[in-house]
Amino acid sequence: MTTTLAFDVYGTLIDPFGISQRLQSIAGDKTPAFAQLWRDKQIEYLFRRGLGRDYRPFSVCTSQALDYTAMQLQVELSVVVKQELLAQYRELPAYEEVAESLHGLKDAGYRNFAFSNGEPDELAYLLAHAGLDAALDGIVSVHDVQSFKPDPAVYKHFLKETGAAQEDIWLVSGNPFDVIGAHTAGWRTAWVKRSPAAVFDPWDIEPDAIVADTSELVSVVV
Ligand code: LAC
Repeated sequence: MTTTLAFDVYGTLIDPFGISQRLQSIAGDKTPAFAQLWRDKQIEYLFRRGLGRDYRPFSVCTSQALDYTAMQLQVELSVVVKQELLAQYRELPAYEEVAESLHGLKDAGYRNFAFSNGEPDELAYLLAHAGLDAALDGIVSVHDVQSFKPDPAVYKHFLKETGAAQEDIWLVSGNPFDVIGAHTAGWRTAWVKRSPAAVFDPWDIEPDAIVADTSELVSVVV
C-alpha cells in the first residue's frame, strides 16, 4: 500500500514567522515578542474554539489573535496596517528546502497531502503562492469538521478524505501538539524539529522519527 504523508502546514511547510520583517517597522524592538505572542495566541484560540465547540475559521482566529497581541504589547495598529499584515499572512513563505523535499517524496512514490487547521480557500492560495501545489496530491482542511487539531475527529476526517488506512499514514509536523494528536489517533509521526532548542511536550509520548527539516524525511518514512 502506498504510504500517505500528511503534512501540517503552518510551522511545518510554511514559516509563520516569515512576516517578521514587515512587523519590524510596526513593532520595532518588540518584534520578536510580537511575532511569538501572535502565534501563541492564534494556537490558543484554535484550541479554545475547538474545546468550546465554538468554531471560527483559522483566519478569524489569526485576526483576533493579532488584535489581542497589539493590545497586550501596546502596539498601535491602524485598520490599514492590520489588513496589510493579514494579507501578508496569506502569502507566508515556505521554508527553504520544502519544495524540493516534497517533489522528491512525490517522485519516490509517496502521496503528499497538506493537512491543516487553515480553511480550504486560504490553504489553496497560500500553498500555490509558495509554489508547493504541484507537489501535493491534495489539501485536507479541518473546516468540514468545524473543529481543530488535535480533536480526534479531524484525524478521522483525513482518513475519509484521502481513503488512506491509518497504518499507512505518517503525520509530519513541526508542532508537538499535532504529533501527539496523530499518535493518539494511531498514526506514525515525524516531528520536524527545526530548532535544536525546540522542546517536545513531556507527555510520555515519543515521535516515531525526529528530523531537522523535510529533506531528511525520505530516509525515515518507510
Ligand atoms: C496547521 C497549523 C495550526 O494546522 O499548524 O497548519
